[in-house]
Amino acid sequence: MFPPWFGFVVSCAAFGFLQWNRFPLSLLSPQSSNSSTSESGKPGNEPDLHIPDSPDSRDTVCMATMTYQGLEVLFSRQQIAERVTEMGAQITNDLSGEKLVMIGVLKGAAPFLADLSRAIQVDATFDFVATTSYGKGQRSSGAVKLIKDLDHSIEGKNVLVVEDILDTGLTLSYLRKLFLQQHPKSLRIATLLDKPSRRIEKIEADYVGFSIPNLFVIGYGMDYAERYRNLPDICVMPPGDQE
Ligand code: IMP
Repeated sequence: MFPPWFGFVVSCAAFGFLQWNRFPLSLLSPQSSNSSTSESGKPGNEPDLHIPDSPDSRDTVCMATMTYQGLEVLFSRQQIAERVTEMGAQITNDLSGEKLVMIGVLKGAAPFLADLSRAIQVDATFDFVATTSYGKGQRSSGAVKLIKDLDHSIEGKNVLVVEDILDTGLTLSYLRKLFLQQHPKSLRIATLLDKPSRRIEKIEADYVGFSIPNLFVIGYGMDYAERYRNLPDICVMPPGDQE
């Protein structure tokens, strides 16, 4: 019915169409001009934003199908920015024009506090605390210790505690108890990530960016042994690289 060369011509046309379709994707990627595929996944390599053809999924999270410096991206900088904007609008609405003290939990919450504060449209001041609960790797010691206290009293103030990730809940339970002793007017908690399956202490945040399964994540302030905090996306720590 068809001449013998017909199949070859159809295959060539299909291949050409697929290649043409891939091309605009690489142009859209901001890293595409200097990207080189990183196999090691170690920081220091050239940034690599690769968008595979087939999507991936894991647990309840819609996994982004991207990698950054060879690390799997859980939430891209764009997804984070969009969610932070939404959270800021919600917090602004709930405050009804009242002043706010934002308390960042160092060091992980620093990028989140910086972005969230600019998405909140009320008169806000900053304060910071620092605690220790995690050692060098990713294992919690169980005990929380305050290593930097508030600079100013929060008595009678509207307080928003800003945390990068709510995991076992030990840190925020400890801090909430500590802050309530100062009798603030209100005390709310905003966390960018929540790992409800890991909870030991009974505590919930008032504002949650994303709920995630039991993954160890890095980037956007979150570290592994003090590294990776400056990754612009939230990435999954490869199991092989964990202690
Ligand atoms: P929690 O006291 O167990 O709720 O832990 C809170 C702190 O543990 C966070 O502020 C983080 O510093 C750290 N943490 C928990 N899970 C992760 C993670 O997946 N990546 C990085 N840090 C984490």
